[in-house]
Parts: sequence; C-alpha cells; structure tokens
Amino acid sequence: MTAPIAHFNGELLPLDQIRISPLDRGFIFGDGVYEVIPAYGGSLLRAREHFRRLQRSMDEIGLANPHTVDEWIGEVARLLSHHPGNQSVYIQVTRGVPPKRDHVIPRGLIPTVFMMASPLATPSPEMVEKGVACVSARDFRWEKCHIKSTSLLGNVLARQLSADAGATETILFRDGFLTEASASNVFVVKDGAVAAAPQDNHILLGITYELLAELAAQGKLRYAVRPIPESEVRSADEIWLTSSTKEVLAVTTLDGKPVGGGAPGPVFRRMHALFQDYKAKLAAAPAAVA
Ligand SMILES: Cc1ncc(COP(=O)(O)O)c(C=O)c1O
Repeated sequence: MTAPIAHFNGELLPLDQIRISPLDRGFIFGDGVYEVIPAYGGSLLRAREHFRRLQRSMDEIGLANPHTVDEWIGEVARLLSHHPGNQSVYIQVTRGVPPKRDHVIPRGLIPTVFMMASPLATPSPEMVEKGVACVSARDFRWEKCHIKSTSLLGNVLARQLSADAGATETILFRDGFLTEASASNVFVVKDGAVAAAPQDNHILLGITYELLAELAAQGKLRYAVRPIPESEVRSADEIWLTSSTKEVLAVTTLDGKPVGGGAPGPVFRRMHALFQDYKAKLAAAPAAVA
C-alpha cells in the first residue's frame, strides 16, 4: 500500500518519505503546538476557530505563525484534495531545527510545519447508544493546559490509565475540582442543567466545548460555566465528553460505578441531536469552511 500524502514545510509528499531532523525542537523538547480539525467531505468544521486557537497557542510559546489563516485553509484544502471523505486533519508547528540542543530558544529559527489527514473515526452508533466507561485520576499535568502543545506526556500517561482499565477516557480532578479528560472536555448534568468547567489555564478550551455552549443556547438548555467539585461529578445525572473526533459522547460508568441511570440521559440525547443537525447543515453548505 502506498503511504498517504502529507504536508511537510509546503511540500506534499508520501508520509513515509518525510524526514525530520533529530535536532528539531519538536522532537527533542516537544517544543511545538498542534491542532486537529475534522473535515466532513472537504468542509472543515470551525476552521477559523481552530486557527485562532493555533495562533493563541503560538503566542503563548512565542512562536511566529508562518501562515495567515487564509493560507492555512488553502494548504489544508490542498492536502484534503488527496483525501476524499471525512477526515481528521492534524497540523503541527514546531520551533524548528537549531544547530545544537540547548534549552534556550535561539532566534531566527524557521518553524517546521507538518500536516497529515487520516480517516475521521467518530464514535460508533453503539458508543452513542450505550455510552462509554471512564476512570478518574488526579490531574498531574502542568499549569499551562490551555496551550495545545505537542508536549503531551502528562495527557499520554493519563490516557493510559483508562486504556489499561479498558475505558475510553480518564477524567481529571485538580484540587478537588473537575478540569477535563486526557483528550476531551467534560460536562456534567444535574436536574436538567448542564455545567462546564471554567475556561482557564487548567483546561484546553475545546472548539467542541465552545460549539456546545452555542448549541445549548440554541436548544434553550440551562447551561453554566463554573467550578465543578469532584463530588458533583460523582453524583451527576449525566457526564459527557466532547472533542473534535468524539463529538459529544455520554459517560455511563465512572470508576466502575454507573453514572445516573447507567445509560445516556435525555439531555445528552438532545445535545447529540443538536450536534448532528449542526454537522448535517455543514455538510450541505457549499462553503469549504464553517
Ligand atoms: C486535553 C484536551 N482537552 C480538550 C480537547 C477537546 O478539544 P476540541 O474540542 O478542540 O477537539 C482535546 C482535544 O484533543 C484535548 O486534547
């Protein structure tokens, strides 16, 4: 099988022909940022929001953005012309290749840009219907979780806890409050009201998280952003995960105990329907971005 086409510093190449220097600061320090954008039949979901977040991540680490948003969108379209169907577009920008390994950031490096597309794996109908299992852990990551950094060791170790338990995600608590999960944002529902953790440095501000706030308003759901104590998560009627690839997914067990009635709840079903409607409109729209 031939390797899929990927983007490397402006060139489209088979993935297996891309060569990256071991001195690249992304390789040696995890000194880089990334984005993952879902594409439905060539239409990017919330492309501008994703590129705004990429810009914020770059600003946080003092990395100059090599492209304007329109250039990024053009480059992604060029890549997607080789990848029909629904895709997950991965975009990574690292600080580039210095002459030697040194923690100090050298001036004048040219950032390394890498993009690839892979078939978008959204949750199966069974996962949507039955919900998924999660475990919990103390949030042992750093204080800058709002940066979508390629330094993901904390998230990787957190995710592995759930993988080892045969579960879908690891829900994290910092100082007794919900932050997020290893690769998703988390929402809770009690008595019909939806709550989300604050948009601070302890979570990645998900593009799906922001979309859910809009859909909640549209669907006239009660919705609040506020600190959520661990006890509230453990006694919630519903818990949801969101991410660009998971969309919105119900958590039906946490640490082996049923969440609410142990099945996806009515508020989840409403939100899931709102999400699917939003996606269907996107797929029907002629524009390549939304
Ligand atoms: C740590 C973390 N939080 C939240 C999210 C959800 O973000 P988005 O909805 O933009 O995919 C992700 C996505 O991968 C993530 O890695």
